[in-house]
Amino acid sequence: MPAFVVVGMQWGDEGKGKVVDYVTRYADVVVRHNGGNNAGHTLMVGGKQTILHLIPSGILHEGKICIIGNGTVLDPAVLLEEVDAVRAAGARLEGRLFISETAHIIMPYHKLFDKAQEKFRGKNRLGTTGRGIGPAYADKAERFGIRLGDLLDTAVFKAKLANLLEYKNLMLEKLFDEPPLCFDTVCDEYLGYADRLRPFAADIVPMVHEALRAGRQVVCEGAQGTMLDLDHGTFPYVTSSTTLSAGACSGIGLGPRDIKGVIGIVKAYTTRVGEGPFPTELLNSSGEFLREKGREYGATTGRPRRCGWLDCVQLRRAAMVNGVTHLVLTKPDVLGSLDTIKICTAYELDGRKTLEFPGQLSKLERVIPLYEEMPGWTEDISTCSSWTGLPAAARAYFKRIEELIGAPVAIVSVGPGREQTIECVDPFA
Ligand code: GDP
Ligand code: IMO
Ligand code: MG
Repeated sequence: MPAFVVVGMQWGDEGKGKVVDYVTRYADVVVRHNGGNNAGHTLMVGGKQTILHLIPSGILHEGKICIIGNGTVLDPAVLLEEVDAVRAAGARLEGRLFISETAHIIMPYHKLFDKAQEKFRGKNRLGTTGRGIGPAYADKAERFGIRLGDLLDTAVFKAKLANLLEYKNLMLEKLFDEPPLCFDTVCDEYLGYADRLRPFAADIVPMVHEALRAGRQVVCEGAQGTMLDLDHGTFPYVTSSTTLSAGACSGIGLGPRDIKGVIGIVKAYTTRVGEGPFPTELLNSSGEFLREKGREYGATTGRPRRCGWLDCVQLRRAAMVNGVTHLVLTKPDVLGSLDTIKICTAYELDGRKTLEFPGQLSKLERVIPLYEEMPGWTEDISTCSSWTGLPAAARAYFKRIEELIGAPVAIVSVGPGREQTIECVDPFA
């Protein structure tokens, strides 16, 4: 059976965690394929909130296999904290959680470099999460990275660390005016993590392919969102991984033909954390309304999220670069009580109307969003359990989104809870 990919269509925080937790009922295996603990995926099950940074969002379903793919970067301390938290919540992880031995490890110098680079950028800072994500992926590309398999082999790890620290300490001291890191301290700390991570390490490629061959449903969970993709996002205001559906291929070891469907998660309005262009941003009371009603504060850093109207120019580009087959709409309940809702349907760029999302930052910074207005609804839809139970104005808004993006809405999420979910079309069909 082929795999399905769940991908964020905007700038992250679309509700991927909620949706992956929901669709895991139909899946056998859930694999996270990119990013690190820059992500914060929130699940709300039985009134209890769980925020996951690395562990796949299927973990609260007993018996389902959860895999962390090679395309991720792992901060061992954070990962182990998460393991402890999930266990404390009652989940059994033995034989259920597997971590690719070729995933790269976030080292202490990555976090120091992340902060130092942001300081160096000054007013051009990206607003990173400060978790060492960019420097860890840079080391992977520069072939300086340490992989989980290296960490688990004490001799290999010691040799790599000794060699790397020489170089990294030179950079810390000479470039960033920071004190050097001590080999023994880092080595002892990380070898301690190694002992605890060893039981989870695996060669995940044959594991996932065996599951597919056996007809099991595999769901690939993306982190971040399309506009934070290193190639197709709003560079340089992006993260350092492939956040697109294509990231599932390289980040797990799948061929494009293994993927049957791509489920794009769309928040009913737009949010963004960190710096960078955001054409439909609302710097007024409407933005404040969305932030407060939608509780738009970062699940990882607690930063207030910037809020704005839905941008269908941006979303059409996202549908294109991801090969989206279905949409899941989240958080429309937040829009309830607005008289009218605006949707951006086109941009004006240098006096001309365009339907295309500019790839070049300087152009994107100049666009003026052109809006269409739709009537809002006054009803609280968070208890609706069927499409027909939704107010006509809400259905009209969702239908317009389908039309503008060019993909069908398979699921509407009307609240953070697992049960606050309306299935319209089977996305796995
Ligand atoms: P992710 O990074 O894409 O997994 O999203 P986050 O977890 O960072 O942010 C989504 C936030 O919205 C979380 O607090 C969720 O509990 C919440 N959420 C998800 N779906 C819905 C929904 O349909 N309605 C409301 N009101 N909240 C939702
Ligand atoms: P989830 O998976 C929202 C943003 C940061 C910053 C930029 C680069 O929860 O949707 P980084 O630390 O990755 O180098 O920061 O990317 N960012 C996210 N924004 N949701 C996320 O993940 C994000 N992960 C990174 O705020 O602007
Ligand atoms: Mg998030």
